[in-house]
Amino acid sequence: MKHALVITAALVLGAGAAAAQDCTAEGDAFDLDADAVAALYDCIESAMVEGYTAGGNEIAAAYRDWTVTSTRPAVAGPHGERFLQTFANDAGAEQYLKFETGDFEMPVGSMLAKESFKLTDGTAAVGPLFIMTKVAEGEADEFDNWVYTAVQPNGEPMKISQSFCSDCHSGFEDQDSLGYPLEEVRVGAGG
Ligand code: HEC
Repeated sequence: MKHALVITAALVLGAGAAAAQDCTAEGDAFDLDADAVAALYDCIESAMVEGYTAGGNEIAAAYRDWTVTSTRPAVAGPHGERFLQTFANDAGAEQYLKFETGDFEMPVGSMLAKESFKLTDGTAAVGPLFIMTKVAEGEADEFDNWVYTAVQPNGEPMKISQSFCSDCHSGFEDQDSLGYPLEEVRVGAGG
C-alpha cells in the first residue's frame, strides 16, 4: 500500500524519476553495509519502478511479481558499478536459484530482469533495467540462445548491442552465460 500511495502522489504531481526525492548514502558503494543498502533501496524503489513502467514496457510491468534472487541489491562491479538486483520469471526461477555451474541450460522462456541504481557522490540515481530472455535453439545461436534487452530509467527501450552484452556474458561459459548475484546476497545462501 505504501508504495502505491507514493507512486500515485508522484503521478499526480507529475514528478518523473529524475525529480524524485534525493536518496543519499555516505561512503563507497562497494563498502556500504546491508542496512545502508536497504535504506537506499527503500528510498529509491518507488521512483525506480515508476520510471521503468512509464513507457508501457511489458517486462517492466511484470517483473516485480517474479522471484527476487538476492537478499538485497549489491555492487558486483560490471554494469557500471551499479547496485544490482535480479528477478527471475516463473519459467526460470527454480533453475536460476540453484546458481548452478556446469553443463546445464536455462529453460526456454526464462527471463531475468535486473534493476540497477548507482551512487555518485553520495546520491543514488536509477539505472537501466537489464533483461535476458532464453529463446529456442536457432533464434539466437551466436549468443547462446539469449536475447538481451534493457529499459531506460524513463521507461523507454534502450538501444543495446547483442554482442556488447554477450561478449561479457558468454564468458560465464559453465553458467549458461549467467553472472549470478554476489555470493553473499544470493537467496538461500544462508547469509
Ligand atoms: C563487463 C561484463 C558485462 C556486460 C558487458 C554485461 N553484463 Fe550483465 N552481468 C554481468 C555480471 C557480472 C552479472 C552478475 C552480477 C550481479 O548481478 O551482481 C550480470 C548480470 C546480468 C543479468 C542478471 C542475470 C545473470 O546474469 O545472473 C542480466 C539480466 C544482465 N546482466 C543483462 C545484461 C545486458 C542486457 C547487458 C548489455 C546491455 C549486459 N548484461 C552486459 C556482467 C556483464
